[in-house]
Amino acid sequence: MPKIQMKTPLVEMDGDEMTRILWAEIKKQLLEPFVDLKTEYYDLGLKHRDETNDQVTVDSAKATLKYGVAVKCATITPNAQRVEEYNLKEMWKSPNGTIRAMLNGTVFRAPIIVKGIEPYVKNWKKPITIARHAYGDIYLNSEMRVEGAGKAELTFTAADGTVTTQLIHEFDEKGGIVQGVHNCTGSIEDFARCCFNYALDSKQDLWFGAKDTISKKYDHHFKDIFNEIYENEYKTRFEEAGIEYFYTLIDDIVARIMRSEGGMIWACKNYDGDVMSDMVSSAFGSLAMMTSVLVSPSGVYEYEAAHGTVQRHYYNHLKGEKTSTNPVATIFAWSGALRKRGELDGNAELMQFADNLEKASVATIESGKMTKDLSLITSMSNPVTLTSEEFIKAIREELEKLQCGEAKDEKLIKLEEFLDCKTVAEKREVFKDMKDILDDKLINDIAASLDIVVDEGDIEKRYRSVLNCLNTMEKYETNRFR
Ligand SMILES: NC(=O)c1ccc[n+]([C@@H]2O[C@H](COP(=O)([O-])OP(=O)(O)OC[C@H]3O[C@@H](n4cnc5c(N)ncnc54)[C@H](O)[C@@H]3O)[C@@H](O)[C@H]2O)c1
Repeated sequence: MPKIQMKTPLVEMDGDEMTRILWAEIKKQLLEPFVDLKTEYYDLGLKHRDETNDQVTVDSAKATLKYGVAVKCATITPNAQRVEEYNLKEMWKSPNGTIRAMLNGTVFRAPIIVKGIEPYVKNWKKPITIARHAYGDIYLNSEMRVEGAGKAELTFTAADGTVTTQLIHEFDEKGGIVQGVHNCTGSIEDFARCCFNYALDSKQDLWFGAKDTISKKYDHHFKDIFNEIYENEYKTRFEEAGIEYFYTLIDDIVARIMRSEGGMIWACKNYDGDVMSDMVSSAFGSLAMMTSVLVSPSGVYEYEAAHGTVQRHYYNHLKGEKTSTNPVATIFAWSGALRKRGELDGNAELMQFADNLEKASVATIESGKMTKDLSLITSMSNPVTLTSEEFIKAIREELEKLQCGEAKDEKLIKLEEFLDCKTVAEKREVFKDMKDILDDKLINDIAASLDIVVDEGDIEKRYRSVLNCLNTMEKYETNRFR
């Protein structure tokens, strides 16, 4: 079967530990046999980030801004223990944080729903998509431990030099902790627009909650910006699409989400999104069944799995043990990126492949074959627990069936095109085009339509023999018309 061609490369960001192992296996088994994969590769593995003083992370984000679509493997965010383990020059920042700050995007996370893995919350029937504001708050904080008595103040020096100071707290001799956080009006506006657009694209209601009754300036600013943008830019379009925007306090949202049947986008401030996406994904079954995409307001997309590098499995892998790590979210990161690339490049074949890759993954689980995280929670009676490698191979079998189905359809389409040709010259050109998809049956059908007999033999020989006949027929046809 000819491989699917790509026009524009994907930005490929490789990662760490167990997910790096899965990454290579997914490429080898599920992508490269079907797609002539074009990627611009960046190795975001911790060792290489350290060697490049983290420049590789910045370069990969720049490439994403250039090409528009990236796919990222999970990466280690170093802590003190990792600095020692990898003998790092310094405790590099979270690559996700760096990329999010450069793309200024919103992260949308949605569970992958399959039959047999029922949500723990019985009334949840549809996916709940978490939209996480990926900028600021505690993730870009400035914090301090105060060791003794004293006064902490908030100071803002305006561009014209005017200073505004506000008391935070007067500490007693036991001291304490102070934290300064910020967000930018422009970033909140971009977040709001990303959410409203995503709601319109996916035709789902948008819910947003913050703590504006307590945080009368900070959280209230979020509420006001969302309301203003909704009223001025989206209200009519939401009404036309039959969807709604709903704001209430974050605690009220949590209570309502638990009682809902799902099917909405839940816009969350940065920390709420971090915490709630893990709660939602676990409640839907497994962290490994959650897709994640960072969407920037300028229309740049970065796809990844929502989970981490599955460190414990990696250490078992290093000991030579076979692990049963779930690759589904990483597979869906690839399918999401390939589909978006296909959409932007007008490449229907690539989009179809992405759909088939997802269908094959879901069908494999629904047939009872799955990794351990799922077999422990499935409602199926006799699930078969596979290692990651076996599970990926099982997906490959399903994918081959689906892709061959596509190829068969392509053969039928081409045969019809051949039969519809008015002249032999046209038939010859269509036949030449069919060279890569020819099999014995197709050659026999074509021979029958031309009323010729083609000897048995290898496909190349039979192809040349039909081509010779078409050339002769064309000469005869041309002479006849003279
Ligand atoms: N997007 C990212 O790049 C990202 C996100 C979170 C954590 N991390 C990094 O990952 C490393 C490990 O962090 P962690 O242990 O907190 O998070 P983790 O997501 O790797 O694991 C959390 C728990 O979920 C289970 N789990 C996660 N994915 C699984 C899968 N595919 N199959 C089966 N079980 C799975 C793990 O066994 C573990 O019990 C850390 O170094 C952290 O910095 C990276």
